[in-house]
Amino acid sequence: MVSRVIPVDPFDLVIFGATGDLARRKILPGLFRRFCAGQIPEGSQIIGAARSDMDDASFAEMVAEAIREFGGGRHCEDGTLDQFLSLLAYVPVDAMGSDGWQALGARLGDAPVRAFYFSVGPSLFGALAERLRQYGLADDDSRVVVEKPFGHDLASARALNETLACHFAEEQIYRIDHYLGKETVQNLMAVRFGNMLFEPLWNAQYVDHIQITVSETVGVGGRGSYYDRSGAMRDMVQNHLMQLLCLIAMEPPARFEPDAVRDEKLKVIRALDPVPPHHLVRGQYDAAEGAPGYRADVENPRSRTESFMALKCHISNWRWAGTPFYLRTGKKLRARASEIAVVFKDAPHSIFGSEAGRHRNVLVIRLQPNEGMTLDVTIKEPGPGGMRLVDVPLDMSFAEALGPDGEDVPDAYERLIMDVIRGNQTLFMRGDEVEAAWAWTDPLIEGWEARNDVPKPYDVGSSGPDDSLMLMHRDGRKWRDIRP
Ligand code: BG6
Repeated sequence: MVSRVIPVDPFDLVIFGATGDLARRKILPGLFRRFCAGQIPEGSQIIGAARSDMDDASFAEMVAEAIREFGGGRHCEDGTLDQFLSLLAYVPVDAMGSDGWQALGARLGDAPVRAFYFSVGPSLFGALAERLRQYGLADDDSRVVVEKPFGHDLASARALNETLACHFAEEQIYRIDHYLGKETVQNLMAVRFGNMLFEPLWNAQYVDHIQITVSETVGVGGRGSYYDRSGAMRDMVQNHLMQLLCLIAMEPPARFEPDAVRDEKLKVIRALDPVPPHHLVRGQYDAAEGAPGYRADVENPRSRTESFMALKCHISNWRWAGTPFYLRTGKKLRARASEIAVVFKDAPHSIFGSEAGRHRNVLVIRLQPNEGMTLDVTIKEPGPGGMRLVDVPLDMSFAEALGPDGEDVPDAYERLIMDVIRGNQTLFMRGDEVEAAWAWTDPLIEGWEARNDVPKPYDVGSSGPDDSLMLMHRDGRKWRDIRP
């Protein structure tokens, strides 16, 4: 396989919050890897902007360190880092005041694409958008990129949308959900709509249920105060798991174009039924020998925030009526593993009799790690003694199938930043999509707050609270094992 790098126009990219964690971990190393891949054209500039008083040289030093710490390109030649650093500039800017804005304007060139990345908290979005216009830095062709969390509930998301809309058109706004930048997440669309094999069976008539799991081993890290105000529902379900659900459940868009895809995703969210309380399980990890529990991690001894969430939901439309979707995600679980399992129904009649047991085809799309796909098929167990059946996986690792080039796939942020420069919004959330997702999650959150619900404890390194297993057992189903 030959990897193809699609050229983009030269650009000026301003990163607000350029000294922050996300910029150092993801955005700047990601840009460097694209530079190594030859995708950042001459004449482009990357301008860091933040409160800290720093000059170009110390910013370049900070970026070089970030690249060393968080990963550069695999095939970078000597001297490439210095060439990349020469594209950088830094301007101290006061987001809420007037300092630095004219200096920033003076640094901008006349590249055909101008983009502003708001790698800052949502409370600054409005101030930044307003000043970009006020100081004439942005025009009707400029692009702005905003990060999650996009609001805390429907009202705040709507307010953010309204604020941004005062200064920019929807076509200029790129709301990031980094799950959409993951190669395997995009693969969900390729698998469904690029093959004849799956789509005819992709409906309630043939699918018994679907499981979506995003299991993490990490805890809340240094983000305790943010996380404790959010919890797994706001941090993961409302955005990342919802996006996976949309891609799995949506109707085929007529074309792979931004609004065609986003219209279909929106229809899925709007067709989601409300979730009754007994279909929701919230969990919180307990202290274990020597290891602090969730409450100690977030320094809130009475916290009722969930670090685990499992739920069963239904999509009320022609395709999915009667097929449950089970979603779960949590921190400090047994393994880091994200996957989607499509469990097909039993064959209508077994010619092998009841002794052959129950066998089901399961299509598993592994998102991370070890991206790939397996399809469980039923075959005869080898050997004499009659017709005993056994399920075996047809197993495909994408890295193996695609060869060494498959290992070079860009990280989610690299992909998404390049899409901003290309002006392709397909993998970004539209304002109405984000609002619809909040409109579905808000009543669930309000419900458990009104009931004073306390999350169920679970052990670090487990698969979550027992109630999550019960959610499945009650329906005669079970979660797939999540293994390291
Ligand atoms: C972020 C969440 O959006 O996604 C984190 O805020 C979570 O809590 C992370 O750990 C998971 O992303 P990934 O790419 O590691 O699966």
